[in-house]
Amino acid sequence: MKDADTQELSFDDWDELKFPRKTTQGFDEVVERAISRRGFLGGVVAFGSGAAVMGTGMLKGTTAMAGQSSRFAFDQIPIQTDGTVHVPDGYSWDVLVRWGDPLFSDAPAFDPANGVPVAGSDRVFAENTDGMHLFTVGNKQILAVNNEYANRKTNLPNNAEGVPASADDVLIFQNLQGVTIMEVAEGNDGWSVVIDSPYNRRITHNTPMTLDGPAAGHDLLKTEADATGTASLGTMNNCGSGPTPWGTYLTCEENFNGYFGATGDMPTDETTAAGFERYGVGPDGWGYDYHKWDARFDVSQNPNEPHRVGYVVEIDPTNPDATPVKHTALGRIKHENAACALAPDGRVVVYMGDDERGEFMYKWLSREVYVPGGDTSTLLSDGQLYAAKFNDDMTGEWVALTPDATGMDEAHIAIFTRIAASAVGATTMDRPEWVAVNPTAVEAYCCLTNNKNRGVQPNAGGDDTSANGPNPREANNFGQIVRWRPHGDNHASNTFDWDLYVMAGNPKAQEGPYKGSSNVNEGNLFNSPDGMAIDSTGLMWIQTDGDDSNEGEFEGMGNNQMLAGDPVTGEIRRFLTGPKGSEVTGLTWSADRRTMFVGIQHPGATFPDGEEVLPRSSIVVVKRDDNALVG
Ligand code: FEO
Ligand code: CA
Ligand code: CA
Repeated sequence: MKDADTQELSFDDWDELKFPRKTTQGFDEVVERAISRRGFLGGVVAFGSGAAVMGTGMLKGTTAMAGQSSRFAFDQIPIQTDGTVHVPDGYSWDVLVRWGDPLFSDAPAFDPANGVPVAGSDRVFAENTDGMHLFTVGNKQILAVNNEYANRKTNLPNNAEGVPASADDVLIFQNLQGVTIMEVAEGNDGWSVVIDSPYNRRITHNTPMTLDGPAAGHDLLKTEADATGTASLGTMNNCGSGPTPWGTYLTCEENFNGYFGATGDMPTDETTAAGFERYGVGPDGWGYDYHKWDARFDVSQNPNEPHRVGYVVEIDPTNPDATPVKHTALGRIKHENAACALAPDGRVVVYMGDDERGEFMYKWLSREVYVPGGDTSTLLSDGQLYAAKFNDDMTGEWVALTPDATGMDEAHIAIFTRIAASAVGATTMDRPEWVAVNPTAVEAYCCLTNNKNRGVQPNAGGDDTSANGPNPREANNFGQIVRWRPHGDNHASNTFDWDLYVMAGNPKAQEGPYKGSSNVNEGNLFNSPDGMAIDSTGLMWIQTDGDDSNEGEFEGMGNNQMLAGDPVTGEIRRFLTGPKGSEVTGLTWSADRRTMFVGIQHPGATFPDGEEVLPRSSIVVVKRDDNALVG
């Protein structure tokens, strides 16, 4: 998500402006923080000079960097500040698809100056590519891709400040977000979209879907148009994603609150109002102005509509007629992605983060086991949701969000999940972005991208955000990656050990812990880890969405980028740099693992077609020149 385009403020900043935090940190909390922080620094991760080795606090079985030979098949590339993509020697990249490229032969032509017209705007690759996954169906390769948000000024170039002036203006936004499903194929001229493939499909803010799980049918989900509370329209702010073991696509609804507003009075019902406060639903929205042209988004008329978004949505990419399902059992939060794992007994685990400053991490555990070819319909609706508590002694636990523990019923836990997690004292995190599960070891990782409010002000629910174990730095502008290993080598376990895989920082421009951990050096500087995937060989790919000014504390970091990390040695190398202004987000591989698909979201002025054409979010393909495996 770009920090400053649709509304000049980051989405977190916008929410804090509209919903000022209630309290400052108390004296007792400051003392407590000092104690826990001393414990952490004394025994866990070594910070500071380049000689310090992270290994003092690393998990058992994790080897320190020294003495390991590199597993990387490329030489690190330097930072860049230009307007294009760079990859190492021996690799090449090309554009697969751009915002506005056709999926069907009847799609409108892209206008280099004005973008996509409203007629047919649901027949093209939508805007702001994000999480994605490639599925193989027989000899076909189907790419499912999230389209996170719409750039208002770019899509309405003739409207001052990109403010909609008609229902059609709103419809352009609604059609250019959601999910794109498209067949892709590699020919003699490289990769391309298969126009008119029967798999091609757009899912927008108006696509019919169903709701299942504990909140389905609850009064809080009923609206004028849907008296059953089980039939929703559209999925929105689709950020990260994840494949299920049974071949479906999970798309995750993140900053849904900004699409709603009010033309009249805000709801006064206590439960609804408290939820709006915690999730940031207000009368003005973020400038999309849907509520002025589409009553569904006007909470003075339809106060329950925001309760129908903020979920993980399951889509069958192999059946264009299948109705997507919103799984309320996995909680309503600002979902980043959904990373599936299987417990040894076959139960399904889904790890998830809530990307807002000081919010929490979650785990889902199914009641039934996954059986290949069997019924999967209850695996994401019947089970238990947990929130993470990290202890400063490098252990942690998943706390079940049950009625007993939270004082809430099952439906309210599903709809107001943040409030439930606050009730059990979950650990406030530095903006949990993508989770990745290592396919070669029983462990998982989460990018904690940054949190300028750590130790400065509480989260949206008033929870203390003093520095804690995995979030050890106040006013954290750099971010870190936490790793956990479930006890018993079992993702179903309620307890785990944790450490920090890396703390980003700047050893040249900063002091103390802000220098970063010892696997950060002047050659591989980055900030704000966000996207993440671990390939079939166990190498971790880290994508950034941070400050690309290359100045001050960010000097030496350049444009946003993708790095590779070795989970075993801790070594990190820069593999790709994105164009100025972009974030690098979304990663998947071709069926033969010889092509990587990498998302370039909200690039700056000239990417990929030069100065005469509007900048266009794009998916690029990266291959080795010798066509060897890339993951
Ligand atoms: Fe859409 Fe948290 O990134
Ligand atoms: Ca992200
Ligand atoms: Ca981000």
